[in-house]
Amino acid sequence: MIIDTHAHYDDKVFDEDREAVLADLQGKEISRVINSGSSLAACKRTLELTEKYDFIYGTLGIHPCDCEELTEEDIQWIKEKCALKKIVAVGEIGLDYYWDEPDREIQKKWFARQMELAKEVQLPMVIHSRDAAQDTITMMKEHYAREIGGVIHCYSYSKESARDFLDMGFYFGVGGVVTFQNGKKLKEVVEYLPMDRILTETDSPYLSPVPNRGKRNDSRNLHYVVAAIAEIKGLSVEEVKEICKANAHRLYTKLK
Ligand code: NI
Repeated sequence: MIIDTHAHYDDKVFDEDREAVLADLQGKEISRVINSGSSLAACKRTLELTEKYDFIYGTLGIHPCDCEELTEEDIQWIKEKCALKKIVAVGEIGLDYYWDEPDREIQKKWFARQMELAKEVQLPMVIHSRDAAQDTITMMKEHYAREIGGVIHCYSYSKESARDFLDMGFYFGVGGVVTFQNGKKLKEVVEYLPMDRILTETDSPYLSPVPNRGKRNDSRNLHYVVAAIAEIKGLSVEEVKEICKANAHRLYTKLK
C-alpha cells in the first residue's frame, strides 16, 4: 500500500470527477491521502474531504503565496481545527521566491507565525520552499523547527541543503519530478537521502510523473514514483512502499 502524503483534491480541476477518482484509489493500492490546505478556502474544503472520506486526512495552513490577507483571527481558526482527529500537520507553510509575492517580509512574517502555531498545537509542519533555501533554513533554525519536525514537501534543492534539513530531523517529499528526464538533481538527492526520510507524494493535480507528465496528476500515478525511487535506491518496489508508509506513520502520529 502507498500513502499519498501531499495532494490537493480540493482543487477545482477535480470538480467534475472527484468522487470517481477518489473511489478508485484504494483499489489501486493507495491506502491513505493527506490533503494539504493552502488557502483558507482550501483548508475549509480539506476539512470537508476528511469528513466525507475515511481514508483522507488533512493538513491546515496557508501557503506563502496566499498569505497576503491573512489575519491573526484566521490563525486562531486554524489552531482550533488542528485539534480535530484527522488533521495531522500544519501546512503548507513557507517561502516562495519563485513567484515572489506577496512581499518577502509578509511571507516571512506568516511563515514565522505558522511555525509557532505548529509548536502551539504540537503538530509537524509541511514546508513549501521554492527558490528560498537559505532563508528557509535560517528561519527554521531561528524557530527551533528541529523540535517540532516535519517535511520539506516537493523537495527541489541540492544535496548540500538536504544536509541542513536532515540535521533538523526533517523528511523529504518526493514526487513526479523524480521521473523527469531533467530531474537529475532530485535523483542525486534521493540517492543521498537515508531511505527512512523519504515520503511519497503527488502534489496532485500538479507534477504528474512520466509517462503522464503534463496531464492532471492523481495518486494512482504514485506507482511511477515508487518505481523510480526503487531503481535509484536498488530496492524492490515492495520495500520502497513499506518503508515510505512506515515513514509517513512515524512523522504523522495522528495518521491511522
Ligand atoms: Ni502542495
